[in-house]
Amino acid sequence: MKIAGAKVLLTGANGGIGRAFADELLRRGAGKVYLGVRNASGQTFPDDPRLEVVQLDVADAASISAAAAKASDVNILINNAGFAAFTGGIAAPSIDAARREMDVNYFGPLQLTRALKESPVFSSAGAIINIISFLGLATLPAAGTYSASKSAALALTRTLRAELKAKGTRVVAVLPVQVDTPMGAGLPEPRVKPAEVAAEALDALETGLEEVFPGHLSKEAAAGFKADPAAVQARLSQFVRPI
Ligand SMILES: NC(=O)c1ccc[n+]([C@@H]2O[C@H](COP(=O)([O-])OP(=O)(O)OC[C@H]3O[C@@H](n4cnc5c(N)ncnc54)[C@H](OP(=O)(O)O)[C@@H]3O)[C@@H](O)[C@H]2O)c1
Repeated sequence: MKIAGAKVLLTGANGGIGRAFADELLRRGAGKVYLGVRNASGQTFPDDPRLEVVQLDVADAASISAAAAKASDVNILINNAGFAAFTGGIAAPSIDAARREMDVNYFGPLQLTRALKESPVFSSAGAIINIISFLGLATLPAAGTYSASKSAALALTRTLRAELKAKGTRVVAVLPVQVDTPMGAGLPEPRVKPAEVAAEALDALETGLEEVFPGHLSKEAAAGFKADPAAVQARLSQFVRPI
């Protein structure tokens, strides 16, 4: 599938990976990019007539409906918005953050995808890219409820891939380790570059790959997980918040 000429709805467009996607989509000749942002005030984007900012809070049903109606001509949906509280299950003061992680990282992409049912996303010209995380495969207890939300998002991605196969929609999961963005600022270096995430995710659409581990750091992690998932989990399980 080609990015040139595509019409795209991108969530979390003002974040680190979101901005990299916007740049890369323009570079590859996308015809239109709706930039979904929770709070449009004070956001600046490249001056390009193909870009249109759309208010989109993926944790708000009314905002999702309005954005989907505005972007009803898209054939590519990129579910990129995400929230991480970086806490454990018991160590967190309440389950509020865990609920928010599920709202933003799981229910948001599910509701937005459903809202685009009448759009070209649900056709042989359509595609969905879901930005998951390596933590959807293995759990980091210090960010345990986030990991759970990303596992749910990965299961959802595989479900959508199966359900939409008959329509011809391509569904891609992107599973980076730590990325150099505001969300990843407290995570260990070196980190994957946001531009690598965007480029490899879009390459996957063009080449037919279904699950993408962007950058050599993510590929190393994926190879380690494939060889010995229990060893990877044991290593991550050392990082626990005190209760
Ligand atoms: N950075 C990492 O280490 C890393 C690793 C693996 C996966 N990821 C995933 O990559 C994706 C992008 O994150 P990032 O690294 O680019 O982080 P980021 O720079 O912090 O960006 C996060 C984006 O999500 C948006 N967002 C949060 N809650 C939202 C909501 N309710 N509705 C709409 N947008 C919302 C933020 O908008 P506001 O500015 O309005 O809050 C922001 O645009 C996320 O799904 C994240 O989980 C990140």
